[in-house]
Amino acid sequence: MADDTSIFIGASRKPDDSYQRAENLLLQYGNRHGLVTGATGTGKTVSLQILAEGFSNAGVPVFCADIKGDLSGIAMMGTPQDFLVKRAEQVKLDPYDFQEFPVIFWDLFGEQGHPIRATVSEMGPLLLSRLMNLSEAQEGIMNIAFRIADEEGLLLLDLKDLQALLANIAERAEEIGARYGNVTKPSVGAIQRTLLVLEQQGATNFFGEPALRIADIMRTTRDGRGAISVLAADKLMMNPRLYATFLLWLMSELFEELPEVGDPDKPKLVFFFDEAHLLFDDAPKVLIDRVEQVVRLIRSKGVGVYFVTQNPLDIPETVLAQLGNRVQHALRAYTPREQKAVRTAAETFRPNPDFDCATVITQLGTGEALVSTLEAKGVPSMVQRTLVRPPSSRLGPITPDERRKLITESPVSGQYDQTIDRESAFEMLQKKAKDALDAEAQQQESGRSRWTIPGFGDDDSVPQPTGGRRAPAPRSSNRQTVAEAAIKSVVRSVGSSVGRAIVRGILGSLARGR
Ligand SMILES: Nc1ncnc2c1ncn2[C@@H]1O[C@H](COP(=O)(O)OP(=O)(O)OP(=O)(O)O)[C@@H](O)[C@H]1O
Ligand SMILES: [Mg+2]
Repeated sequence: MADDTSIFIGASRKPDDSYQRAENLLLQYGNRHGLVTGATGTGKTVSLQILAEGFSNAGVPVFCADIKGDLSGIAMMGTPQDFLVKRAEQVKLDPYDFQEFPVIFWDLFGEQGHPIRATVSEMGPLLLSRLMNLSEAQEGIMNIAFRIADEEGLLLLDLKDLQALLANIAERAEEIGARYGNVTKPSVGAIQRTLLVLEQQGATNFFGEPALRIADIMRTTRDGRGAISVLAADKLMMNPRLYATFLLWLMSELFEELPEVGDPDKPKLVFFFDEAHLLFDDAPKVLIDRVEQVVRLIRSKGVGVYFVTQNPLDIPETVLAQLGNRVQHALRAYTPREQKAVRTAAETFRPNPDFDCATVITQLGTGEALVSTLEAKGVPSMVQRTLVRPPSSRLGPITPDERRKLITESPVSGQYDQTIDRESAFEMLQKKAKDALDAEAQQQESGRSRWTIPGFGDDDSVPQPTGGRRAPAPRSSNRQTVAEAAIKSVVRSVGSSVGRAIVRGILGSLARGR
């Protein structure tokens, strides 16, 4: 049975359907990633649940998305229902103990868990462009926008900041276009409109501060169990792009922030990516390549990524090849595509002379799976027909009251609940625009030469109207606009050190060609 070096998955069956032996997942290979697949209703979520339980008991923090709300029961103690007890007997799980697990609920919308946020700059231009479904040309502009923010020390925290920056860029389109090419007022305008749509879809909550601290999803309890972060994803699934982008961002953050650990005794964190097909659906090749790379590299940070999806064909081959621990539930084989999926799934296993994989895949019962894990030296074990163990926690969802109570008692209670809106690009641009107006008005009043910015094509020969303090600054094509002055002035006052940290991340850095 499970000891401190492995997680008990279930019991394999001989060809005559009798008990064969315990099937385990070795913790030392927990960071070699995994795959849970199967048609709807075949037992994927329960398999995810027992794996998460196992990792938690081994002291490994877990992050998983709860698509239908039925994973939330993992926070509560299970009850001895007949079919569960029977299953425990079949797989020789003795004693079959019930247990509640240390769960932290998260929710991008802040409704069913602690709000989870990221800043626009953390998200980076590549992921944002993907999130907004921008064209290649628009993505180019987004890259320029980030570069300008970076160079000019403008903090991009929330969508308001991004809007302000884009508005500013639209205003400076000519100058910026001359410098970087391909930036025109209408093209920036198109991005601004897409951003409005994104805001209407509820993404406003997600961008801002306090941003998620990675340490908060890597907690362990005093008794040495790993916290299980459960992301409420039912509402999120209505915006699959936001869901996929968020999880990609989280992976890249983990990758950036965690130190190299080589081959640890057990993972530092395990990440379950349910409905994983959403990650790859009409994703550009460049993004798929990047995901492949992150998945490959994140292993050495001790992070195991487990993809959960209905069809193994949903996962690109290059990614599939890296998933060492596999739980394949039943697949249907009616359509040609389904038949192809069965063949693909069957072919990826190390064959077992006792049975034909492709045949068995279509015959597996609920909560039964073909299982292969990495054994000694990281070699895949021979595939076994396995009955998956029943969970120790509750099967099915928790009630809203139970959830509320757990959220109140959570270790991060109060840390994320209030949005902080500190001074960033929006406020800076606004303030600087106002200051510039004031300064200009004052200079005009006092008759001194007005504020000039070297290298900005400032032209003193343009006669200035006089007026009160609040007089609007006149504009002509060869002199800086108020906003330009503001931006330049921000550079001086903020300095570029803020800028350095602005764009980073393996996914964010890609488009900048670093
Ligand atoms: N290991 C198991 N032990 C006992 N019962 C199980 C097990 N696995 C699955 N079941 C039973 O099968 C039901 C469906 O399983 P589950 O919800 O995991 O399917 P699923 O593949 O996630 O479905 P969907 O694609 O619809 O999300 C469970 O509610 C439970 O009753
Ligand atoms: Mg499910």
